Amino acid sequence: MRAVVIEEYGVVPVVRDVPKPVAADGAVVLRVEATGLCRSDWHGWMGHDADIVLPHVPGHELAGTIAAVGAGVTGWQVGDRVTTPFICACGTCEQCLEGNQQVCPNQLQPGFNYWGSFAEYVAVPYASVNLVRLPDDMDFATAAGLGCRFATSFRAVHQVGKVRAGERVAVFGCGGVGLSAVMIASALGASVVAIDTNPDALKLAREYGAVHTVEASDQVAAEIQDLGGAHVTIDALGSSDIVQQALTSLRPRGRHVQIGLLPSGVQLDVGRLIGQELSWLGSHGMPAHAYPEMLALVASGNLHPAELITRTITLAETPAALAALSAGTPPGITVITPGVA
Ligand SMILES: NC(=O)c1ccc[n+]([C@@H]2O[C@H](COP(=O)([O-])OP(=O)(O)OC[C@H]3O[C@@H](n4cnc5c(N)ncnc54)[C@H](O)[C@@H]3O)[C@@H](O)[C@H]2O)c1
Ligand SMILES: [Zn+2]
Ligand SMILES: [Zn+2]
Repeated sequence: MRAVVIEEYGVVPVVRDVPKPVAADGAVVLRVEATGLCRSDWHGWMGHDADIVLPHVPGHELAGTIAAVGAGVTGWQVGDRVTTPFICACGTCEQCLEGNQQVCPNQLQPGFNYWGSFAEYVAVPYASVNLVRLPDDMDFATAAGLGCRFATSFRAVHQVGKVRAGERVAVFGCGGVGLSAVMIASALGASVVAIDTNPDALKLAREYGAVHTVEASDQVAAEIQDLGGAHVTIDALGSSDIVQQALTSLRPRGRHVQIGLLPSGVQLDVGRLIGQELSWLGSHGMPAHAYPEMLALVASGNLHPAELITRTITLAETPAALAALSAGTPPGITVITPGVA
């Protein structure tokens, strides 16, 4: 099968033939119909993820059709249309049994622990725990985003940030994660302030429901405090500066939700954290059992993940698109269709 292969960190990957995955016990193999280009793929390519072993096939935000079913998998058949959380949980450990599959210590992640979805086929381990059936009327490109960024933002805003109607939510960084967070927080009735360096990303943020948009500068926290301060801040980029700005933007007892990865660590103003009783909350993906609530909001027309997709590219165009993330992010979500030449 054709796949995007990273041979060396930071060097543009190649597209070449690699062996097709086989369906191990408990696993399925999917024909990849669509897979999103997420900044976490860029982090992996840059060598920021200790789990990756070279050569490596990235890709973790995916939707596809079941092509093969391994022994012991019940309830799933060849031809079923599915997605999976990028955190494929084991289903049997203490965390999984408590419903916290997103922190399963035995988790496997396509595109990180094993070869991912920038390929014609990908395996999904622990299939019974992780597969999510797609609604018939949802296209694969939209569904791919549910594998990582849209679902991650849903959990971050709704389950971790516990955003309530009438609260002010400041979203720092309006790429795939941030725009999803803007749409979800707005749908929950929050008043959203969106911050980005790119005016085109801010234009999309307004379309998806942001009430205020602010170009990134060292004045952002003061501007948000002038509005009354944020109840919830979200780092949807991953930057120590943004964490500081976010903490300074919060009202007393405010909650900061960290989604963006911080490979170089972070400087925290712990004095402010204590004195203002702020919360600094990590958020990691979303487990499969939490998808029905999100899918119901899509079905009822309250959430529109299809609108976030601004570009569709082929496998052959993927290496250059991944490398181009070093210079910045094209506004909206980019989806790869490996089946299309
Ligand atoms: N925690 C999780 O489970 C999880 C899941 C998915 C992604 N992530 C991480 O979330 C982060 C965002 O991913 P993405 O794919 O949406 O990224 P992205 O590259 O699509 O978006 C980043 C956005 O930040 C903007 N930006 C750049 N500098 C800025 C600044 N100084 N101030 C404000 N905005 C700025 C960019 O213009 C862009 O719009 C990444 O770190 C990614 O690895 C984490
Ligand atoms: Zn991702
Ligand atoms: Zn587990």
